[in-house]
Amino acid sequence: DANDEDLLSPNTVLNIAHRGASGHAPEHTIPSYETAEEMVGDYIEIDLQMTNDGELIAMHDADVSRTTNEEGLVHNFSLDEIKAFDAGTWFNEKNPERAQPVFSNVSIPTLEEIIERFGPDSNYYIETKTPEKYPGMIEELISLLEKQQFIGPNARKGKVIIQSFSEDGLQEVSQLDPSIPLIQLISYNDTASITNDQMEEIKDYAIGIGANYEHLTEEYVAKVRDAGLLLHAYTVNEEDDMKQLIEWGVTGIFTDYPDRLSGVLDGV
Ligand code: G3P
Ligand code: CA
Repeated sequence: DANDEDLLSPNTVLNIAHRGASGHAPEHTIPSYETAEEMVGDYIEIDLQMTNDGELIAMHDADVSRTTNEEGLVHNFSLDEIKAFDAGTWFNEKNPERAQPVFSNVSIPTLEEIIERFGPDSNYYIETKTPEKYPGMIEELISLLEKQQFIGPNARKGKVIIQSFSEDGLQEVSQLDPSIPLIQLISYNDTASITNDQMEEIKDYAIGIGANYEHLTEEYVAKVRDAGLLLHAYTVNEEDDMKQLIEWGVTGIFTDYPDRLSGVLDGV
């Protein structure tokens, strides 16, 4: 894994545990993050949704039905209600070969619980999901991170990265605290391309781009890197793809299997 001083270096390939080690354990649960930490990734990745009483929780979807035993939108539930949901049995049913009794009935963690569990020695790569739909989400996130001293003058550089598909959401973070490293997420449907003007605009507020890997090309990676932006590819689970992207020059990879990426990086 990267040295802490080197986390944001353009010469590092970050191992970012996507939703934790979500290939091995139910995504966005404490066991998933614990597994990621055991596999010595550089960051645990956390998607954020917000409950109707304003609590930030770790969940990818706006709807709870894929990853819990309940149905409905996160923003229609209170934290107390959400806490009673079973966020692990679905994984055991879907992945019998990876099922573990300990996963059943595991609960959805709040961001605060994750931070308290893993503390200042871990690094956090946090995604604000649809911040435009959650008034107050960004203020809540920043205040939580300040309280833990994960951002601000005493924080280690790169301890927290904030990512979003929402440029407005990233701009809002940047206005509240311009020192937080930001990644602009982009999802390409076809061969990835970007203009110099677009890259200059992103450089105004972000240190790099997070892009889906399937449509990346060697030329695109070089162009983004030459512009002085970092490039983190998501979500890469096959070793051959990891090797190819590293050869092209990406500076980070989101993976559900941080153990596989560690193995690839050890061989580089
Ligand atoms: O955050 C990078 C990647 O996780 C974006 O895709 O849908 O898995 O959040 P998604
Ligand atoms: Ca994400």
